[in-house]
Amino acid sequence: MSQILSFTPEIGLGLPAAEVLSAPKRPRAVVTGGSGKLGRSTVVDLLAHGWNVVNFDKVPPPPGSGHEDAIFVCTELEDMGQVMENLLEVDCRYKGVDAIVHLAALPSAGMMGSSTQFRLNTMATYNLLEAARKLGIKNIVLASSETLLGLPLDPWVPDYIPMDENSPRRPESAYALSKLLGETMAQEYCRWDPTTKIINLRFSNVILANEYERFETWQNDPKPRRWNLWGYIDARDGAQSIRKSLEYKAVGHHQYIIANNNTVMRTPNDKLVAAEFPGVPYTPTKGSHDTLLSIEKAKRELGFEPKWDWKH
Ligand SMILES: NC(=O)c1ccc[n+]([C@@H]2O[C@H](COP(=O)([O-])OP(=O)(O)OC[C@H]3O[C@@H](n4cnc5c(N)ncnc54)[C@H](O)[C@@H]3O)[C@@H](O)[C@H]2O)c1
Repeated sequence: MSQILSFTPEIGLGLPAAEVLSAPKRPRAVVTGGSGKLGRSTVVDLLAHGWNVVNFDKVPPPPGSGHEDAIFVCTELEDMGQVMENLLEVDCRYKGVDAIVHLAALPSAGMMGSSTQFRLNTMATYNLLEAARKLGIKNIVLASSETLLGLPLDPWVPDYIPMDENSPRRPESAYALSKLLGETMAQEYCRWDPTTKIINLRFSNVILANEYERFETWQNDPKPRRWNLWGYIDARDGAQSIRKSLEYKAVGHHQYIIANNNTVMRTPNDKLVAAEFPGVPYTPTKGSHDTLLSIEKAKRELGFEPKWDWKH
């Protein structure tokens, strides 16, 4: 379905008809939660790299987000009717979708009743996966989370450091549990249709450029950021990982940890680990400040290469 529909020329772009028909086809991605912290950068990045983008969110993006060339469609993702209808077409604005990036969620634990958070996160993911299956959309990226790995690390300690995709999954909150179910659903949908690709990206703590000044306040004490092994992901690099996942030629279910190249600390890793995780098996990496949430798999398979660094 999506392949057939995606050849439909764009309508209503304000271009003369001949120009519309001869314009090279850009694939269309729906980004859910495109008005949020990670979503805003994702929409901008996809637009800049040859994608048409439709943002499904409950609220429009704030002014200055750079979404002028994207389409916003107010969507309640818990409502399957809205999800199906909006993926199919919205009046004359677009028809057919090639790929889905599902970011919308209630992301922070403890800011609402846990059952509300669990219901929204799992229901929205189910609706999108099921609608995609019915419509034949086979290129899907889902936001997962570092919290699946047992974060915050209190009172837990990791089995080994750096943590990687083989670290045991140990959700400790309704939020992390909803992300675990998102990964489980993805795995099963790929089993049902082996020609589908679903990638779960386990993002570290998402950081905007204007938040880097906070990093200075963490430098004299390893404790405040011990909870996630001093990890972070710049929203712009998170967006890059999403785009590279969409472009990754593969089928089946894949998971990747997504973090930046380094930690949030100036203190070298051997000192941090010795102070906060004595006795935990630790394999030093090449660089003294390399991320302790390993991104080697994402680099190797997706070609992910973070460009942003809080120190520059
Ligand atoms: N922020 C982080 O540190 C972090 C870390 C790891 C994973 N993640 C995951 O990344 C994704 C994006 O996180 P974020 O920080 O950008 O979140 P955010 O809260 O900034 O944005 C989420 C967006 O989803 C929308 N939304 C929520 N419920 C909706 C619904 N029912 N229907 C339609 N839209 C809805 C909101 O309006 C919002 O714009 C989430 O899935 C989150 O769990 C975030």
